[in-house]
Parts: sequence; structure tokens; C-alpha cells
Amino acid sequence: MELLRAVVLLSLALLANGRDTDLSRDSFPKGFVFGTASSAYQVEGNSLKYGRGPCIWDTFLKFPGATPDNATANVTVDEYHRYMDDVDSMVRVGFDAYRFSISWSRIFRNGIGRFNKDGVDYYHRLIDYMLANNITPYVVLYHYDLPEVLNNQYNGWLSPKVVPDFMAFADFCFKTYGNRVKNWFTINEPRMMAWHGYGDGFFAPGRCTGCRFGGNSATEPYIAGHHLILAHAAAVQVYRDKYQRRQNGTIGILLDFVWYEPLTYTVEDEYATHRAREFTLGWYMHPITFGHYPETMRKLVGSRLPNFTAEQSKLVQGSADIIGVNHYTTYYVRHHENLTHMSYATDWQAELLFERNGVPIGRQAFSKWLYVVPWGFYKAVMHVKNKFRDPLILIGENGIDQSGSDTLRTRSTTPSGSTTSTSTSTS
Ligand SMILES: *[C@@H]1O[C@H](CO)[C@@H](O)[C@H](O)[C@H]1NC(C)=O
Ligand SMILES: *[C@@H]1O[C@H](CO)[C@@H](O)[C@H](O)[C@H]1NC(C)=O
Ligand SMILES: *[C@@H]1O[C@H](CO)[C@@H](O)[C@H](O)[C@H]1NC(C)=O
Ligand SMILES: *[C@@H]1O[C@H](CO)[C@@H](O)[C@H](O)[C@H]1NC(C)=O
Ligand SMILES: *[C@@H]1O[C@H](CO)[C@@H](O)[C@H](O)[C@H]1NC(C)=O
Repeated sequence: MELLRAVVLLSLALLANGRDTDLSRDSFPKGFVFGTASSAYQVEGNSLKYGRGPCIWDTFLKFPGATPDNATANVTVDEYHRYMDDVDSMVRVGFDAYRFSISWSRIFRNGIGRFNKDGVDYYHRLIDYMLANNITPYVVLYHYDLPEVLNNQYNGWLSPKVVPDFMAFADFCFKTYGNRVKNWFTINEPRMMAWHGYGDGFFAPGRCTGCRFGGNSATEPYIAGHHLILAHAAAVQVYRDKYQRRQNGTIGILLDFVWYEPLTYTVEDEYATHRAREFTLGWYMHPITFGHYPETMRKLVGSRLPNFTAEQSKLVQGSADIIGVNHYTTYYVRHHENLTHMSYATDWQAELLFERNGVPIGRQAFSKWLYVVPWGFYKAVMHVKNKFRDPLILIGENGIDQSGSDTLRTRSTTPSGSTTSTSTSTS
């Protein structure tokens, strides 16, 4: 597929920082893993077939306007049937790894209970075909697609009941696939799930203050985030207690982290920038590293931010062998208070900007928020290393996007676009 090829060319070009003619695979250390990534809902298609139960996105997309062209997941690129073609493409391009997610409601129609054999067998086929072709699986257990039933029964991520249910699903996956899968991630970008699912209604289940499906942007993102962290930690505990020694794999979480640079180097903007980092990466990395939320969040969010009990804190602290960082861009940050709306997005009292003195921060990709800023990539990763006790880091996603127009094929020779790519280092 042309798309995949563009990803590699582009990643190399970005890393070369203008010296792309000198760069080849040999420029990278031995053992450097090149990979690509997807999410189940976006690539499998057959969203309501082969015994799969609906997830929150199936409901969300019934309302026109949620996606730019009212697209659904009925077909997508049909990886459910065409996984061999996709893996063959990865081999042709030269990838070493494929990061995919497991659809919870394809395994358990109702989130819990009896498993769906068709769904279980699909991932067996995919994993076996990958391994036969030397493509290493990196498996994500949750990529935004909560079983609809759990949303109806107890409001999904807003309820602590989701924690044991996710743990049971994770347990099943470790037991079923862990003899072949050695790289596990519990949750992809919990911040995006909490913010877009419950803060601005941009993702399923589409909740926010004033949203069609109800919600409260000032409280629910924090409640959802809390349960995402607890569910992550519970799944990690199961893996460590029951499987890790025997299966010999690692488990972690994937966090989105753009770099935040002060617009001006004044105390005000520096502090706003600190808040931006704490309210995004820190929201998850602090508990995972230190067992509690960052002080900055505690102070600004107050009683709207849940607390970990002593027991939960112990469970959460240290609950990752590896931190996956999904990094795309860099923003300038300016101190800005929004006195009219109380929400997760305004709590940090920061405004994000793409330019300083009229100069863009980098070359713009297709999305209006995506600028190419290599130096920000470096600073972001070093921040994770230096602030959080030097964890093992994997770059889970990076790259730029393209419009997806019909002219994609002819334009793919220019370094102007790609989908998400994964480059990982095992060192
Ligand atoms: C999406 O659906 C709505 C309602 O049916 C319609 O008004 C709108 O034009 C559709 N958008 C596109 C891009 O097809
Ligand atoms: C997708 O599938 C659902 C359920 O089968 C159906 O109601 C809907 O019309 C389909 N949408 C499209 C665009 O085919
Ligand atoms: C466990 O994994 C490590 C690293 O992949 C490998 O070196 C080691 O041989 C494995 N041990 C067993 C018992 O499989
Ligand atoms: C969390 O604990 C802090 C400090 O003990 C307290 O001030 C705050 O009200 C608590 N928040 C909740 C939601 O219980
Ligand atoms: C405050 O936040 C709301 C919601 O995000 C936004 O619509 C509004 O423009 C903001 N106002 C200011 C002054 O930033």
C-alpha cells in the first residue's frame, strides 16, 4: 500500500532533519524496531458482524455529523477479512512490528460473560499470520471502543464497575494470546478518552456540558480518567500476578504527549506551560510514577478531582514496565484564564498557539493542529525521562497526516503526508 510506504519515507525524512539523503535503516541502532499502528474500530470493519457486540462508537456514529463524511465502521479497510494483505504489505515495506488493538465487544459481546468464538479466532489468525511473517505483535487492549452494554448498564468509564470488567477482559486476552504476544498495552491515550469522550463530546460516548448525550465537562473527564487509571492498574496487576513470569512479556500504557513550549519566557507563561504538561502527561504519569495526581491539578481542580485510596495508590504506582509516548506536534503556551466556562479544558488556564510573532512553529501537515517540530519531539521524550524516574520509553505513534483524497496515490511521492507510524526502540 502506498500509504505505508509514505509513512516510512516520511519518518526517515523527519528524523534526518533536512539531511534525508544521508539516512538509511543503517543509521539506526541495531535492534531498533520499525512498526505501524492501527485501532480495531478504524480498520476491522464488520462492526456488527461475526458475533461482535456494539461498542459506544456504533451508537455515537448513528448521529450524522460525528465524522466529516458521516462515515461508519461497517466496512473500513476490512482488516477482519484482509489481514493477510495488510501483513504482507508490512513485510514489503520492511516493518518489524504491528501495533493493533483488540475490540473488547468482539471478544465479549456484552463486555463480560461468554466469549464470542468468531472474535477470539480472528485474533488467533491475525497473530499467527504476523508471527509466521516475522511481524511482532504489540497489542493494545483498549482503544476507545467500550462495549455499548456497559455504557447502558452503568455509564461506562464513569462508574467504578468498569474496573473489574476491564480486568476480566484483560485476563482473558493474556490467557488466550499471551503465549505469543509479548508486548502489551492496556489503554491507548486515556486522556483523549476522558477529554473527548466526557469533556467536549468529540468522541463516543459524546458527553459534555450541553451535549446531546448529557454530561458535565467540569467533573466527568476527571472521573473517567480516574477509572481509566484504575482499570489500567488492575489489568497490569493481573498480568504480573498470573502471567508475566511464565509468558515473559512486558506491559505498559500509551500516553499522548505533544510538547508545550512557553510563548514568552515570562513567569506567567512558564507556569502556564508547566500546567499544560501536568494536565496532560502528568495526569497519568504522576499516578503511575508517584501514586498520586500532580499538585498543580490538585490545587486547581480541587474537590472535582477524585482521590486514590491508600490501597489504590499502591496498585497504581509502578504499574507500567514501559511507557508508550504518542507524539505529534508542539504548541506554544500562553497564560489565559477562562472565567466563563469551567471544564477540564479551561482548568489549566492556558491557551495553545501555533505561532510566535507571526512565525509558525513548524511546517503544517493536513490537520490544523499538526505542525512538524522535530526539536519538540526530542524535548517531549526527555521530559518523560527526566521527570518520571527514567522509565523505559517506546514511541507509540508519530508522523503527519494527509487529506485522504483520491489524489493521495499520485501525491505520495512528495513528503507531504502519511498516517500514523510507530517507531519503537528496544534499547
Ligand atoms: C451527514 O448527514 C447529514 C444528515 O443526514 C447531512 O445533512 C450531511 O450533509 C451529511 N454530510 C455529508 C458530508 O454527507
Ligand atoms: C452500517 O450498519 C448498520 C447496522 O447494520 C446499518 O444500520 C447502517 O445503515 C450501515 N451504514 C452504512 C453507511 O452502510
Ligand atoms: C524472556 O525474554 C527475554 C527478552 O526478550 C529473553 O532474553 C529471555 O530468553 C526470555 N526468557 C524465557 C524464559 O523465555
Ligand atoms: C481529596 O483529598 C484532598 C486532601 O485530603 C481533599 O482536600 C479533597 O477534598 C479530596 N477530594 C475528594 C473528591 O474527596
Ligand atoms: C471559554 O471556554 C469556552 C469553552 O471551551 C469557549 O467557547 C470560550 O470561547 C472561552 N472563552 C475565553 C474568553 O477563552
